[in-house]
Amino acid sequence: MKKGIYPGSFDPVTYGHIDVIRRSAALVDELIVAVLGNSEKTPLFTVEERKDMLREVTKGLPNVKIESFSGLTVDFARKMNANVLVRGLRAIPDFEYELNMAQTNHIIAPEIETVFLMTSLKYSYLSSTTVKEVANFHADISTFVPPYVEAMMHKKFISNQEVES
Ligand code: PNS
Repeated sequence: MKKGIYPGSFDPVTYGHIDVIRRSAALVDELIVAVLGNSEKTPLFTVEERKDMLREVTKGLPNVKIESFSGLTVDFARKMNANVLVRGLRAIPDFEYELNMAQTNHIIAPEIETVFLMTSLKYSYLSSTTVKEVANFHADISTFVPPYVEAMMHKKFISNQEVES
């Protein structure tokens, strides 16, 4: 059985991530989308909120499971018996970071193969950071994220504004 793991922050999940999820789910028997909990970045959404959004947007993909983890990705992949680690590559700036991470992961866990999918051209500009920045200025994000995520973003920005005021 080929089990893949697609780790990331998913803060929030975008159409770019969904593109990678769909395409990699077609290559393996089971795909675990793994949300990192203990990132150095301060996330906008809690792990549970990010998992909830991922579950919602992958409802139609029966071989996709949503999990969260802390610590090293390869440790979690081993725990889940995943032997393929999926990452999306958008453009050249991603390459250096991804190469470093793939090589480090390979040294720690040589039995886990990192596989890169080139993000579809129409999403090659897209990142969660961009979505948050655009949403922060109340601009339309419907081309970047599904309606469920868009609604969660609006809710989050409204509740954050209430906290600040
Ligand atoms: O969506 P992101 O933020 O680009 O995902 C980055 C992620 C979660 C894949 C990466 O930060 C990660 O794997 N973190 C866990 C710690 C780890 O295993 N690092 C790689 C070895 S240096």
